[in-house]
Amino acid sequence: MVIYGKPTKSSFGMSSHHSVFRNESVLVPEFVPLTTPHRGDQMKALEAYFQGVVERSGQMSQNVLLSGPVGSGKSMLAKKLGATLERNALLYGNRVKFFHVNCRIDRSLQAILTKCMHFLGHGYPSRGFGFEELLQSFSEALTGDKVHLIVAFDEVDSLVISDPSSLYTITRLREITQGSQVFSSLLISKTLDYLKAVDLSTLSSLQWNSISLDPYSSQQLYDILGSRSQDAFNDGCVEDDSLELAAEIASTYGDARYAIDLIYRAGRMADLSDSPRITPEHVRRAKASLPPQFKKEELAYLGRHQRLILISISNLLKKSDSAYITIGEAEKSYDALCESMGVAANHHTQVWSDINELSRKGIIETQISGKGVRGRTTMIGLSLVSAEQLIDELRGMVADVRS
Ligand SMILES: Nc1ncnc2c1ncn2[C@@H]1O[C@H](COP(=O)(O)OP(=O)(O)OP(=O)(O)O)[C@@H](O)[C@H]1O
Ligand SMILES: [Mg+2]
Repeated sequence: MVIYGKPTKSSFGMSSHHSVFRNESVLVPEFVPLTTPHRGDQMKALEAYFQGVVERSGQMSQNVLLSGPVGSGKSMLAKKLGATLERNALLYGNRVKFFHVNCRIDRSLQAILTKCMHFLGHGYPSRGFGFEELLQSFSEALTGDKVHLIVAFDEVDSLVISDPSSLYTITRLREITQGSQVFSSLLISKTLDYLKAVDLSTLSSLQWNSISLDPYSSQQLYDILGSRSQDAFNDGCVEDDSLELAAEIASTYGDARYAIDLIYRAGRMADLSDSPRITPEHVRRAKASLPPQFKKEELAYLGRHQRLILISISNLLKKSDSAYITIGEAEKSYDALCESMGVAANHHTQVWSDINELSRKGIIETQISGKGVRGRTTMIGLSLVSAEQLIDELRGMVADVRS
């Protein structure tokens, strides 16, 4: 037998199978896309707020609040903004640097400013010096380098909760140098609730430049998926219905991250089943493959009384030996909590409807008890999260609860 030429991989078995993916890497959460449908206006507004710093970085300083629900594009906007501002400043002969930190990871201002020092190319020991000394070195570094630093404090609520004075210090950072301006900030969070615990003088110096993002609608998510799919998938490999379905599913939360994750997984499902295209069935399978998750973000959207109810339930469950408490016990404990806080408790029907709502959102689990010792009643438990964890998460919102 004579073989002419070298057999290429594609002339055998596996080979006829083509992946639906053109480039998977553009679907990972950290990837910053070039086009961002439905965020053009917000991007322009952010740029406009910082235009003064770009043009006159030595004389101007800015502080902007950016808020919006999970997956609404906050971190993405911040990263794109950073690149744009640095580039634009150069056109004016100014040195502006942008540094993005996640305060859920770096939970103290000391840690963040130390990181800033390293980012600016200045060694600074992470131990052994006090905060005042760090501030001093920080301002000297910026003035010495003639750099204006803009720090994006992402998930800033974590920082403010673990260190309430940090917000005050951030606003004061603008005044650490005399004569010139070297520091600006962008404070990013899901809600502005964390500001409720902050004193008035800090609030007034924040100056209320605020941009808030709405959750994406299913139509908007569809556009976003369409735009992201162009780079991610080969031509003709995604059915339009699949994009629509993924957008529809994710629109419950208005969450672009979830929508993208769905279509990414659906692509994997298509490849696994040797399908040349991503069909709605792949999207459904992708959805089913995502484990039911406790979404911490959900807590941020609860009403004040829903939070109080949840705290009461968690407290009871933590003390209790059994997996469930009765709805009656929950209500009693809620009444007691309200009384101890001097808050007027809601009526029975409202409390029960709130409990239903919590159950519908999957934060608590309810079931009707069999005819047992307790008769037929609604039992409440937690399936996705421990009582301890819930109390921990809610603790940060207590300031809000009490207000
Ligand atoms: N308009 C858009 N166009 C394209 N991709 C988008 C758009 N909005 C968000 N995304 C993408 O969706 C994902 C989630 O966005 P991002 O991380 O910015 O959300 P977030 O608001 O910071 O959410 P979280 O509060 O959970 O941190 C990212 O991968 C981002 O690139
Ligand atoms: Mg984010």
